[in-house]
Amino acid sequence: MSISQIARSIKTSPTLALNEKFAILKSKGDPVVHLGGGEPKSKAPMDAILAASAHLNTGEIRYAPADGIPALKQAIIRYTEEHYNRKVVPENVMASSGAKQAIMCALHTVLNPQEEVIFPAPYWVSYPEMVKLCQGIPVPAHPEDGSFYPRIQDIEQRVGSYTKAVIINSPNNPTGAMYSAEFIADVVDFCEKKDLYLIMDDIYHRLIFDGRKPINCYDYANDFSENSKLIVINGVSKLYAMTGFRIGWAVASKKIIQAMANIQGHQTSGPSIIMQKAAVGALNGLQSCISNLNVTLENNRNVLLAHLNSFEGVKTTMPEGTFYTFADFSAYEKDSTKLSNFLIDKVQVLTVPGVEFGLEGYLRLSFCGGIKDITQGIERMKWALDLNSPNELYIGDRKLVRDWV
Ligand SMILES: Cc1ncc(COP(=O)(O)O)c(C=O)c1O
Repeated sequence: MSISQIARSIKTSPTLALNEKFAILKSKGDPVVHLGGGEPKSKAPMDAILAASAHLNTGEIRYAPADGIPALKQAIIRYTEEHYNRKVVPENVMASSGAKQAIMCALHTVLNPQEEVIFPAPYWVSYPEMVKLCQGIPVPAHPEDGSFYPRIQDIEQRVGSYTKAVIINSPNNPTGAMYSAEFIADVVDFCEKKDLYLIMDDIYHRLIFDGRKPINCYDYANDFSENSKLIVINGVSKLYAMTGFRIGWAVASKKIIQAMANIQGHQTSGPSIIMQKAAVGALNGLQSCISNLNVTLENNRNVLLAHLNSFEGVKTTMPEGTFYTFADFSAYEKDSTKLSNFLIDKVQVLTVPGVEFGLEGYLRLSFCGGIKDITQGIERMKWALDLNSPNELYIGDRKLVRDWV
């Protein structure tokens, strides 16, 4: 059987594969700890659930406009005004099935075959595959200074005649790094001057700690005309703990949104109306769930980092946002896939190999689960990797005996 070249070039999503692995191990009753997750544990807001159920109860569940129902567009317009101080109109907004589909439609809209998209590394696992799906060429930009904080020179150096777009994700998955306002200003300015599309993936923009304020890319834009190539992506998945509802959106010029909506119309006919109603409920409802989530995540981060910092040989960087940290385990094993598999096999702790995000020797650890997961997970990892630890470890009443050196 022959499958297409594009299909052959696309890797399985390692994070989704890990979720499947977790579900399988859990269903077998294994005491597995998931430090690889990408979603908050809290429940979806009641306003979202009520809004979705009210619509479901009507029994009339129909097609909706491909670019989003008017009520959701209005809620997004209000969100954009409140959090970005930017007034937009419905023609500037497209709702989609998750931020993921919004990014995919944006890339389909702007890329011709062989055109290049630059994004800082480490990067979200899906960017290279999404670019390849559009027949483009992904161009990761590793900061020259080896940090998680790119400078404009790191982007500039990779720009060539085929460069079409830049994707920026801050705070960043997988590092938790929040890029400086200066860097965001530089990128916005640079892309305007070079006439490049700039996709700001702001899915974590308000999940930030230590009293930080979200950075607003529009503050640094000069071009607010119909020619603006700035595309801002957002969604309810992370902020409102609504990953399963699959609602995200894009805000951009009318022309870009029209093209994106045409594509989405043929791909999915737009997101499910029930989920759109839920997103309206969340966006228009009580907002305390976001500050509560931030408090929980900040506390989880502190616990995880305290445990990791007492892990000899592991190098950490304090996350400023998201619910991930990206730690350097190369003192134990340089091959992150091997290390991640070892941790699953020996102590049933799930982590995501750094290589999937473009950096070997690292593991991405999540702190979106409970404190117990964090402390147990790190304790097991220490036991597995530190050969000076006792030869035995109890997981509940299960005794593990080290049979490796
Ligand atoms: C950086 C980044 N962008 C986009 C997404 C996709 O979000 P959604 O679930 O809304 O599709 C994720 C999800 O993990 C992410 O980490």
